[in-house]
Amino acid sequence: MQVYEKRLDIMSCVATFSTQKKSIGFVPTMGALHRGHLALVQQALNENDKVVVSIFVNPTQFNNTEDLVNYPRTLDSDIELLSGISKDIIVFAPTPKEVYGDETISTNYNFGGLENEMEGKFRPGHFDGVGTVLKHFFTIVSPTRAYFGEKDFQQLQIVRKLVDIEKMSVKIVGCPIFREESGLALSSRNKRLNQQQLEVSPLIYKTLKQVKKDFGIKSVSKLNEWVSTQFENHNELRLEYFEIAKVSDLKTIKRKQKNKKYRAFIAVFAGEIRLIDNIALN
Ligand code: PAJ
Repeated sequence: MQVYEKRLDIMSCVATFSTQKKSIGFVPTMGALHRGHLALVQQALNENDKVVVSIFVNPTQFNNTEDLVNYPRTLDSDIELLSGISKDIIVFAPTPKEVYGDETISTNYNFGGLENEMEGKFRPGHFDGVGTVLKHFFTIVSPTRAYFGEKDFQQLQIVRKLVDIEKMSVKIVGCPIFREESGLALSSRNKRLNQQQLEVSPLIYKTLKQVKKDFGIKSVSKLNEWVSTQFENHNELRLEYFEIAKVSDLKTIKRKQKNKKYRAFIAVFAGEIRLIDNIALN
């Protein structure tokens, strides 16, 4: 298992791959790896000659210092998990200084309005941080394909836009959401849920599934109302937002239109822990 911390080292490693005309699959992560991440890595292994996984808790995408400080950091066990799938995986685990130099700042991006919806409203500057770190990583790793989960669907759409804006040649591949048997979407933050929170959190996906079922027969406002009632006066869970939005621009809708693709998006707090999920509606 090769683990690089320095950008120059990984750059010379990937340079040999490109002279050998080998395709490179790239899976960017913030570590605390779970089976959802590993599914992305497996897909990258299936579709490429070489696979690079980055493990980097990116400071510029956290709008909440407490969240950044508490974000789980488990590099040794992450490396062990990856080597369990394939010893050929290359890990890039840099320090913030290695990525950003002396000034940890992000670029102000215009993602055509995608950045102002949902997560963008509740996490100011978040997508500038994501865009900035990925621009750095795509430049360092020069991947043929990069893999992102639909778990963070807004992020996936923004990365597609980023590649467009920056005129980068990497192909962005979206991968399905990996769930617990209970329906709860896997997330590094789930490690912080206590037993009671773990027991009630499947309500999030259960609600999304019901919305999908009712999407053809109920109005958008009725669905919005129904979702609110699911979380009203809930002892453990607090709804931050629920929105039905167009896939193309992620704008919330009031009414359905023909021939448009829609998705439902949700963010819920279980205590201090923020959980997000989404589902395709048609
Ligand atoms: P992180 O939250 O570690 O997620 C890394 C990748 O794994 C993302 O593409 C995310 O969508 C995907 N992922 C997480 N949970 C998943 C699940 N249950 N099913 C499928 N895919 C899942 O997202 C980030 O890191 C960062 O913003 C990053 C892109 C690395 C930039 O810093």
